[in-house]
Amino acid sequence: GIAILAIDGPSASGKGSVAQRVAEALGFAYLDSGALYRLTALAAQQTGVDWSDEDGVAKVALSLDVRFEKGLTFLAGQDVSTLIRSENIGVGASQVAAFADVRQALLARQRDFAVVPGLVADGRDMGSVVFPDAQLKIFLTATAEVRAERRFQQLIARGESADLAAITRDLQSRDERDAARKEAPLRQWGDALLLETSQLSLDQVVECVLSWWKT
Ligand code: CDP
Repeated sequence: GIAILAIDGPSASGKGSVAQRVAEALGFAYLDSGALYRLTALAAQQTGVDWSDEDGVAKVALSLDVRFEKGLTFLAGQDVSTLIRSENIGVGASQVAAFADVRQALLARQRDFAVVPGLVADGRDMGSVVFPDAQLKIFLTATAEVRAERRFQQLIARGESADLAAITRDLQSRDERDAARKEAPLRQWGDALLLETSQLSLDQVVECVLSWWKT
């Protein structure tokens, strides 16, 4: 069978970096499910479909022309790797991710990432909805302060301007929206193991996930 490791958690918890490193170490494929929601928001914007139009956005999600290659993301042949990380597209992604029809439209596409020998998938509902039979499910988190600080350092490293107080406020409101929504609300689902990373380095988190996987 195909081995699946599901990593869910809130914004800026570091699940993307951890999942990529773990996938590399195990020789598994990697799914960044958040990127699909971001791509859906971007594709809707580019084709004049309003983010509040559930039917319209679901159609956009179904017909997404995406390609992930060597760490880059292409939408209809265009490299949108940087564009989908913008704050504006993040807001759009969280809006369209609240629609059941949009989530449904992306379901098969996400499951297609599962290939031999295995997959590491990161998101909000990897262990609960998309891959409920995953061998290992982890809920990766950190305090809001630590996550804001990590996002802040990330922006600075990219040479962008950043305001720690604004980032903290934005993270908290996103946490609340993600937890309160009806579809795939953010939470630690029943059989997911909690990994609190506030005191851990990236290397330590990766090591911990790999040790759980091997036992
Ligand atoms: O974690 P961060 O907010 O930086 O971004 P992301 O992981 O790329 O996710 C973007 C948006 O998509 C978030 O608002 C999530 O709520 C949503 N999302 C989701 O609903 N389900 C997923 N499996 C992944 C992301």
